[in-house]
Amino acid sequence: MTRQRPYILGIESSCDETSAAILEGTCTVRSCIISSSRKDFERMGGVIPERAAREQLRCIIPVVQQAMNDASAASNDLRAIAVTCGPGLLGSLLVGTATARVLAELWNIPLIPVHHTLGHLSSTWLTEHGETTVEPQFPILALSVSGGHTDLWLRRSHGEQTLIGRTIDDAAGEAFDKGAVQLGLPYPGGPALEALAAGGDKQAISFPIPRSNEQGLHLSYSGLKTSLKYLIRDAGGLEAIPQEQRQRIAASYQAAIVAQLIDRLEAALRMHADIREVHIVGGVSANGELRRAAADLAEKKQLILRVPKSLRYCTDNAAMIACAAALAEHEHRTISRQSFRTSASLPLEKIAN
Ligand code: KG4
Ligand code: ZN
Repeated sequence: MTRQRPYILGIESSCDETSAAILEGTCTVRSCIISSSRKDFERMGGVIPERAAREQLRCIIPVVQQAMNDASAASNDLRAIAVTCGPGLLGSLLVGTATARVLAELWNIPLIPVHHTLGHLSSTWLTEHGETTVEPQFPILALSVSGGHTDLWLRRSHGEQTLIGRTIDDAAGEAFDKGAVQLGLPYPGGPALEALAAGGDKQAISFPIPRSNEQGLHLSYSGLKTSLKYLIRDAGGLEAIPQEQRQRIAASYQAAIVAQLIDRLEAALRMHADIREVHIVGGVSANGELRRAAADLAEKKQLILRVPKSLRYCTDNAAMIACAAALAEHEHRTISRQSFRTSASLPLEKIAN
């Protein structure tokens, strides 16, 4: 009898992170290595794509090796390789997909291309070894909120989801990052802005919050960024603003980002009465203010709220990519494709294979 191979190797390199993970079954993380070139970009206010890709080229093999070693996995324990095929920075994506193609060829195992957003949507299923968990229940309202996207999904299964709302301009993470730059904080702005906001009164300044009756379920963040710009200009520039006032500004700005997300979740729940769970995924799901507000909403509506179990599964990681592939495999969808296109702008509609 042939032994069922237990593991999927996941590879994710769509932005400045290089990550490899070993996943057992559909959801259990045996190892997850995330190498980030964030330090290089802290003072620059954003990622320089060529520099990120060069660093990824240097570290991808050691990262894969480390993930295999940490899980004590050999190549013949792997049943497939799952890799992010887009969207993202093309050079960065190509480092991941080229590596995955070579390894799949060498080890003679299937290669599974995964849409980055489907990876994030799957991150609420991830568990660590030894944890007992309850499986999420569809239909799920999922808010995928990161530096590149802010989308609301109505999910009926792993392969069946409808995009019911999205940002018409900046993503919520981008609003954090751009606001942070204006406040003189390092990249990525989300964690830095959250830390500054911790000491401030969030009601001190009223920033614009487009409500769902104006935008439907779509969101907009460009007006918020502009009003922060004018606020700082009218105060005589950042240097003229004392630290306590900066804290109030950060707290109010963060509250405005969160209020719009909660408003759309609430509107979506009114429109889709059969929803059983609310999931929040992507880098911004690490934000404490968002988690508190979403927990209050879930309690009010008597729904289950899920966020990734560990903060490291909120931001980009390879475990969620392997999980998306494993869950699709579990639903008996044909997803393995040795030939596929790596694409910087992979439409959201192509999310399921
Ligand atoms: O999912 P992710 O790692 O990459 C993309 O796919 O974009 O998300 C990165 C984004 C950045 O905009 C970052 O500022 C934001 O997530 N982020 C946060 C927090 N941690 C990361 N935003 C707010 N609060 C946080 N604690
Ligand atoms: Zn992401």
